[in-house]
Amino acid sequence: MCGIVGYIGYDQATPLLLEGLKKLEYRGYDSAGVAIHTGSELKVVKAQGRLQMLSDKINNGNNIKGFLGIGHTRWATHGKPSEKNSHPHVSQLGKFAVVHNGIIENYIQIKEELLKNGVKFVSDTDTEVVAQLIEYYYDADILNTMSKVANKIEGSYALGIVCLDKPNELIAMRKSSPLIIGIGKNENFIASDVTAIISRTRDIIRLNDEEIAIIKKDKVTVYDKNKNRVTPIPFHVDWNISTSEKSGYEHFMLKEIMEQPKSIMETIKPRIKDGKIVLDDLNFSKDDLEKISKICIIACGSAYHVGFVAKYIFEKILRKPVEITIASEFRYMDPIIDDSVLVISISQSGETADTLAALREAKSSGAKVLSIVNVVGSSIANDSDDVIYTWAGPEIAVATTKAYSTQLSVVYLLAIHMAYMLSKITKEQYDSYINDLLLLPEKVEEILANKDTIKSFAQKFCNCKNIFFIGRNIDYAVSLEGSLKLKEISYIHSEAYPAGELKHGTISLIEEGTLVVALATNDMLFDKMVSNIKEVKARGAVVLSLTTEKHKDLEEISDFNICIPQVCDMMMASLSVIPLQLFAYYVAHLKGCDIDKPRNLAKSVTVE
Ligand code: AGP
Repeated sequence: MCGIVGYIGYDQATPLLLEGLKKLEYRGYDSAGVAIHTGSELKVVKAQGRLQMLSDKINNGNNIKGFLGIGHTRWATHGKPSEKNSHPHVSQLGKFAVVHNGIIENYIQIKEELLKNGVKFVSDTDTEVVAQLIEYYYDADILNTMSKVANKIEGSYALGIVCLDKPNELIAMRKSSPLIIGIGKNENFIASDVTAIISRTRDIIRLNDEEIAIIKKDKVTVYDKNKNRVTPIPFHVDWNISTSEKSGYEHFMLKEIMEQPKSIMETIKPRIKDGKIVLDDLNFSKDDLEKISKICIIACGSAYHVGFVAKYIFEKILRKPVEITIASEFRYMDPIIDDSVLVISISQSGETADTLAALREAKSSGAKVLSIVNVVGSSIANDSDDVIYTWAGPEIAVATTKAYSTQLSVVYLLAIHMAYMLSKITKEQYDSYINDLLLLPEKVEEILANKDTIKSFAQKFCNCKNIFFIGRNIDYAVSLEGSLKLKEISYIHSEAYPAGELKHGTISLIEEGTLVVALATNDMLFDKMVSNIKEVKARGAVVLSLTTEKHKDLEEISDFNICIPQVCDMMMASLSVIPLQLFAYYVAHLKGCDIDKPRNLAKSVTVE
């Protein structure tokens, strides 16, 4: 979603802001803009469309000189994509320029009050209300002014502000929308995520909710919304910079797909010591585990699909009831939660507003929250009782691949660890699961080595209008992910169905030539899948089946077949998802889609 970057220091701000915004492009946006304090004025330039349009307008940043500035990429919420609605927004008298991520929920009410006081608005956005309100409250004391603003506005916000009267100050404030401060040598930054500034600094302060920061080039002062000084705790980010570059791949998505053996290894390996799973970050005694009455998993999108796989696994080997709920539904369905419930939230970004809100709802009902998160220090990580990081490194493509795979790896670690603590599995089973876990990276590698076969299938099917994915049990959970991947990047309509459910209605959509991707990796359910494949074939479907070496003969009843290596049923998701990711990627590629930045989508969805 929207991206923010701000700079104050000794270097020219505009090229640095453009560079930072470029790194944030992956979040998804429809317009961009910058505001620079030139020493005598606030120079604001905006452009609808790609960042290149903005860059062209200002000669790659060389046309505007100044050492203080803010930049923004906007993903429209209030007001359609247009130059007038893009950020930075400037207050009526031109004293303030503001960039904002989030949603000001009471903006209509504030706008009416300001209109009555003669303030004139030029855009349709909630953000402009903030710019006007700051100017309206301004009394030459910026902290006092921002404190009044914080006490007035409701909703979520990450704000970057420059004031004409303050050529040596960058101002920031946030609530429920991420904003970090990057600490440099004689220069400081703000950004909505680390990737924007990692080439200049790795020392970061994370602003907490309702904190205000006054940032000079050599000093950062942070206050709560009532003007009390707070002492922020900086942390160091050690992400490898090359993980946020394409390293020769045509798209980040392909690079991230190919990185999966390494990512899975880095998630699993350090947590297996002397043949035992060691989860240092987990504060659960055997007694705590025994007291858990049920597990509730909350997540969105692909992370929700990981939760779907997790439900099958936890229930199978932990024998505890598991509910899996889409986070945006969770908080409004009056969930039955108390302190005997373990809530597991799953999120790559750690900033998904729906997941964060659901997590807070669960905590307020007394539940303990354990989160599986990729981004260290993110809001979801901060608000959770326990966090297990996925250590996938930055994921840039909007369509998740390596984050999904590392989340699955954490689910296995957690389930095996808990089941063994509760004596639900024997030592032999425990050892055998660990053995399978350690084999995952090389098995994923084997599938990736065969990517040209998947590419040839993509060539055959890239003109399809509708595609069905079917499977049973974990294969169904993976079908959901395969279908989502295809939809989000290739714009082909697809549906995932539990294979046994088709004949209860949806089979009426199968006609001559409809592609059905059938996942049949589960030994126990293999024969059932054979019947389901025959059912759709009898109605004219073209079947692309996906199975393991053991069931290679499935190719006899399929039109096309993908054969993948075998691990235990519980971990097959880690292998079966790989061809589906590749299939989506190649189909989208052949259709000429914008793979890393699919239309209308944002990487980090920070509004509810
Ligand atoms: C998947 O490819 C998505 N782009 C999307 O569904 C994503 O998984 C979802 O928005 C959740 O994001 P999170 O993991 O950062 O919370």
